[in-house]
Amino acid sequence: MIGIIGAMQVEVDKLIASMSVDNVSTIAGNKYYLGQLSGVKVVVVCCGIGKVNASMTASFLISNYQVSSIVNLGVAGGLSQSLKVGDIVVSSKCVQYDYQTDLVNSPTAHNLDRLGLTYLDCDTNLVNSLQSTIVKLGYNCIVGIVATGDKFVADKTISNSIATEFGAIAVEMESGAIAQVCRHVQIPFVTLRTISDSADDNAEIDFEQNMRITAERSCKIMQDWLNNNS
Ligand code: ADE
Repeated sequence: MIGIIGAMQVEVDKLIASMSVDNVSTIAGNKYYLGQLSGVKVVVVCCGIGKVNASMTASFLISNYQVSSIVNLGVAGGLSQSLKVGDIVVSSKCVQYDYQTDLVNSPTAHNLDRLGLTYLDCDTNLVNSLQSTIVKLGYNCIVGIVATGDKFVADKTISNSIATEFGAIAVEMESGAIAQVCRHVQIPFVTLRTISDSADDNAEIDFEQNMRITAERSCKIMQDWLNNNS
């Protein structure tokens, strides 16, 4: 069974509408939809925005359902010049750009406590098969590092510094947290994001304008991927 997590309702609505739902359970205020999507057993949940919501939901998902992998999907701000609104990013690695412990004796600035890692590798099989689906559907796709932090980035100076310091191609607010939970329990993970804005001074307006159509594109890709990988 595959666990699917989106942060906002608009990022999972199309999936839930297309599912044959067997059961809905509410855990800590979030609804977990268990059923079939494109012939594959899935559990879909909307976690809410940010790292704490994302890690809490990933933990409940793993504790309550027998998921063999987790896919996070939705929208992201593009950091790479070659990414335009509507293009797709698949994570090769995730990083929490706002996690910084070098003032309290950590060997390196952004190493996650207990894991001792800054970058969390995503599952190669998930990354490659998603990339094939996206290319087949005719979308521009870049595989690379996705940066996560508890802030909607709408400032070119900040987005440039995240791109430069971490080598990141996109920024959002959940995947690094889910990746951390998955790493602890050895569950394969990837995030699939459609670019809604460029994390620049126009990001707020772009996000509002593009959120629905870009979120739905991620859902469409997910459904096609499930169809071909079951
Ligand atoms: N998700 C979509 N766009 C984003 C941005 N600019 N910053 C953080 N998360 C986002």
